[in-house]
Amino acid sequence: MRILVIGGAGYIGSHVVHALLNKGHSVCVFDNMSTGRTENLFPQADFIQGDILDKSALNQALKNCDAVIHLAAKKAVGESMANPEKYAENNITGTLNVLNAMAANDVHHFVFSSSAAVYGMPDVSVIDESCPVNPINFYGFTKLEIERFLDWYDRLKGISFVSLRYFNAVGYDASGAVRGLEQNPQNLLPVIMEVATGVRPELSIFGNDYPTPDGTCIRDYIHVTDLASAHVLAIEHLASGKESQKLNLATGSGHSVLEMLQATERIIGRTLPHRFAPRRPGDPAILIANADKATAVLGWHPQHSDLENIIKTTWAVYQK
Ligand code: UFG
Repeated sequence: MRILVIGGAGYIGSHVVHALLNKGHSVCVFDNMSTGRTENLFPQADFIQGDILDKSALNQALKNCDAVIHLAAKKAVGESMANPEKYAENNITGTLNVLNAMAANDVHHFVFSSSAAVYGMPDVSVIDESCPVNPINFYGFTKLEIERFLDWYDRLKGISFVSLRYFNAVGYDASGAVRGLEQNPQNLLPVIMEVATGVRPELSIFGNDYPTPDGTCIRDYIHVTDLASAHVLAIEHLASGKESQKLNLATGSGHSVLEMLQATERIIGRTLPHRFAPRRPGDPAILIANADKATAVLGWHPQHSDLENIIKTTWAVYQK
């Protein structure tokens, strides 16, 4: 199969490309390099520098492709609330451009990077796909809106899809195949790593008065290698003619912010400066999901997501 990976030079995208190449697929990366990194490009994959807002570049890129994996998006929750126009244009308009170019070029399989953010703050201890979707930030709204377009493009244009709702993506490829670090990261583990490497003076822990055992927020951290393998399975699912799906990718258990910090301290062998700061607006106390549906539909089982492996593989890259 020839697969166009949009956003393939990014953190998750480059792991997906690595997994596809390992399975013998032919890959073309399409990335505008706004946050993608050249060191995340693999010589075995073709590369087009292009933007999803450029319809003619998309049309050109889609010639001779059998499927699309679309990971390119703006993804900072806080920024999406301050600057929704940017998110509407890049995430929604950009994805519609991709779908329209697919329809025009007879490409009928689409794997989409969705997010736990579609659920908002569900009133359950473990989220499954039957939970109501009710985003509480504009970023999550864009992901949900795209999923709704996907239902219609499936019915009207015959584009079958798998929408993968990631929980908290962490970790790095254990063989060192991906080395690009995110610039100015906002997510917890890269921030902890930047404290450990001296790039930042300390970690601010946003809130220690949540209704959790240690007062800090709990998240379901899923290793990026496990996310990547789900994309390969999703492509194979669609190629074999099976129906469209929306699937959680998660482990079913969570770790608090303090647990993440303490586990890192244990693995690197020293304490890290941190302080408690006010809650960050829009943070749910606990987000843990059930991924039984991904197991049933795709045969997917996370195999790399134990805390030790998550932190060791991340530290290995940051140490360099
Ligand atoms: N946190 C801190 N200090 C920091 C950074 C984060 O205390 O410097 C805390 C947050 O308040 C939160 C937890 O660490 O409680 C995890 O925060 P992240 O920013 O790493 O991740 P989020 O859960 O906020 O969001 C991530 C992605 C979203 C996605 C969501 C799905 O950024 O795109 O996971 O669960 F929607």
